[in-house]
Amino acid sequence: MVFVKEEYALTPIEENQADSELMEEQVKSKQRVVDHGEVLTGKREVNAMLDLVKSETERIDSRFLEPACGTGNFLTEIFERRLRVVETRYGKSQLDFERYAILAVSSIYGIDILEDNVQQCRHRLFGIFDLSYLRLFKNKTNDNCRESVRYILERNIIWGDALTLKTVGEKPGHIVFSEWSPVNGSMLKRRDFTFHGLLEHASMKELPLFSDLGEDVFIPTPEKEYPLIHFLEVADVDRQQL
Ligand SMILES: C[S@@+](CC[C@H](N)C(=O)[O-])C[C@H]1O[C@@H](n2cnc3c(N)ncnc32)[C@H](O)[C@@H]1O
Repeated sequence: MVFVKEEYALTPIEENQADSELMEEQVKSKQRVVDHGEVLTGKREVNAMLDLVKSETERIDSRFLEPACGTGNFLTEIFERRLRVVETRYGKSQLDFERYAILAVSSIYGIDILEDNVQQCRHRLFGIFDLSYLRLFKNKTNDNCRESVRYILERNIIWGDALTLKTVGEKPGHIVFSEWSPVNGSMLKRRDFTFHGLLEHASMKELPLFSDLGEDVFIPTPEKEYPLIHFLEVADVDRQQL
């Protein structure tokens, strides 16, 4: 899936309205409910549940993974919340806004077994970013920044099966998540981890994966590490490897 702005028939504002309607559509078809248990969560319930962990939803770099993300009703709300924080804190500087918006999107992860849901989820998340970016910086916006957001969304929102931990499609393989860590302001360090590797610690029952209280945590071994790259050039990695 390639997000190309010209493909959009709607303006970002129209996109946003369509997005609200999409969130209210909870059942797409009876067959999908039967086959995949697909009943999407309504906005009121999404907000009530996210409010239980409100400070985490608003922390720009707090990592969220939704293993059956549907069209992204939870992930889009989380992204909107943290983008509001980014706008308020960094909306006066384009470079800062771009850096922190990328950080906000790069820490959101989702998996869904249905390809159209994955595409819709990425599309909605990109639309939220683009609407905010255009509103703040209008004709000064930078397509490289959009490319980075699109690339990160392609990696982070995965067409896969959260039960088998494998991707879906022609060549199923292990689900791989990319961790994006900011270094020295404008650089990003990418490290790839397999989902099954991240979950292995659970069977060992030794250390947690995450801690807010400073205890020791399980540190998994990455499958692959990438050289530092400027946040506006993350999409170049695959081009360099061709
Ligand atoms: C009840 S819906 C919830 C969607 C979303 N979390 C929400 O609340 O709006 C369940 C979702 O899980 C997806 N799903 C079902 N089995 C799955 C699996 N094994 N791995 C990943 N996603 C799956 C379905 O396609 C559907 O989008």
